[in-house]
Amino acid sequence: MAKFFPLKVKDVYKETDDCSVVTFDIPEDLKPDFIYHQGQHLTLKKDINGEDVRRSYSLCSSPVDDEWKVAVKQIFEGKFSTYVNQELKANDILEVMPPSGDFGVDVQQDNDKTYLFFAAGSGITPILSMIKTHLSKEPNANCKLFYLNKNAKSIIFKEEIEQIRNRYFGRFEIFYFLTREQRDIELLNGRFTPEKIQLLANTVFDVNEVSDVFVCGPEQMIFMIRDELTALGLENDRIHYELFVSGLSEEDKKRTEEALAKRKEGTQITIMDGGKEFHFAMTKDYDNILDAALAAGADLPFACKGGVCSTCKCRVMEGNVEMKVNYALEKDEVAQNLVLSCQAVPTSEKVTVDFDV
Ligand code: FES
Repeated sequence: MAKFFPLKVKDVYKETDDCSVVTFDIPEDLKPDFIYHQGQHLTLKKDINGEDVRRSYSLCSSPVDDEWKVAVKQIFEGKFSTYVNQELKANDILEVMPPSGDFGVDVQQDNDKTYLFFAAGSGITPILSMIKTHLSKEPNANCKLFYLNKNAKSIIFKEEIEQIRNRYFGRFEIFYFLTREQRDIELLNGRFTPEKIQLLANTVFDVNEVSDVFVCGPEQMIFMIRDELTALGLENDRIHYELFVSGLSEEDKKRTEEALAKRKEGTQITIMDGGKEFHFAMTKDYDNILDAALAAGADLPFACKGGVCSTCKCRVMEGNVEMKVNYALEKDEVAQNLVLSCQAVPTSEKVTVDFDV
């Protein structure tokens, strides 16, 4: 069942000209449902002009602070982000799904290594939660943040980041990279490049001393950083990332075409959710299980519908599906038959999926 809870907005403030920070009031009796770990996100829902609009936003607060905060950056023509940035106010009610996502790693109190964080723009939100959590819970761990923005004015959470640096003096280093403002140090001008990553590895960190790396930003940036760091000797499974998808890459378009080419007409679908079963047949109007099921009247969890957030994940119990794109599930999850229902194209006559995963 798509479980949303009506939550009161405790506070909304503008962090920058185009980014609002929303704090939720979580009643004591709902706190067990809303326990989270650093790096997780909340899915918010609002009826905007008669349309059910849902978006996922990473929590920028830390579980250690007993707070639930998300930052919403205004996106050009973005329905939800426009609503939040222009209309939402304290005491309003929003429908919110409990935290989900697995971007973060377990906290290890005796960790004495270094975490590296690469963030671009609003990619800072899950990263900020992680930095606060690791510094607070792991007294011997260090954090280094490489944070890319257009200019100094657009840096989200600059003040809070500076406060954290003062609070954990000597354990937290920050490097601001700006694309539209000149800095004195050449390294800090412009986007991340392979040369810059190599230079940082020679001067600012030692890959042998790195515990984990977290990257949050556009696809190109993520894969470049991942490739450079693995070439420098860092194990792949220590590099964690969360994508901001802006349009399909050529590779994804090809994958989508391949999945659609295998599509079976009229597949009989069984949805298992909350201990109940729901049956329907796929029609020509929809190519993925989620959209077809919603149109047939099912109430299922989803947010981005773009293969990014994993809110819609389910397990294939019978039959076969092909995913168009998958930016959310790890290899081992796919091996366990987990799929993103918003991307799942049925390719057999019968498909049964279970949402109780
Ligand atoms: S709804 Fe976000 S991955 Fe399917």
